[in-house]
Amino acid sequence: MISIIIPIIAETLVCLGAVSILFWTIRLGIGPTPTSYKVRAAISDILPDHVRGDVVELGCGWGHLIPLLQAQYPHVTIQGWERSPLPALFTHWSRKVKVVRKDFFTADLSNAGLIVCYLYPGAMTRIQQEIIPQLPSGCWIVTHTFALSGCEPVKTLKANDLYQTPVYLYQVRDTLHPATPARH
Ligand SMILES: C[S@@+](CC[C@H](N)C(=O)[O-])C[C@H]1O[C@@H](n2cnc3c(N)ncnc32)[C@H](O)[C@@H]1O
Repeated sequence: MISIIIPIIAETLVCLGAVSILFWTIRLGIGPTPTSYKVRAAISDILPDHVRGDVVELGCGWGHLIPLLQAQYPHVTIQGWERSPLPALFTHWSRKVKVVRKDFFTADLSNAGLIVCYLYPGAMTRIQQEIIPQLPSGCWIVTHTFALSGCEPVKTLKANDLYQTPVYLYQVRDTLHPATPARH
């Protein structure tokens, strides 16, 4: 009997997990696709040496960027925001980091020193309109693949991958306009 029930329970859980991920992928407009190893290497190279404030990853997915943030900023509070429940729980438990399971557009980012994200063009537009105006001056933003349109990055690197994926570093120079070039 147990040999029948356990596989049924396991299959049901796998199906529920897949449905949950699909549901949130459709709802959010993007799935928990991890940043690749080669892009992570470029991100490591572009991260600022020092940040004044918290490190916040918007849409932390399965947490692939968390270890490099923890290594670079061992004494800084690191927080992930992730709406999709399974990736959020996985990242919280496996990476030992606080993950807020809410829409990051509702986050209070007034104490952020560095924002990290890998999203899609529509979300980048909303970040520009809704998040950047509330960031403190001096806050850094690291993103890859999709840029903040109309903003001048402080630095751009290309990952050593097939797509030469661009990785961007921005800095908020006043509360409304993030794009004035600054020294890294
Ligand atoms: C492409 S994945 C990136 C995952 C991770 N940052 C990485 O680079 O490996 C984008 C993640 O953002 C999450 N996401 C998208 N919009 C969100 C929102 N408004 N609030 C919270 N999470 C969101 C998605 O669920 C997805 O897991």
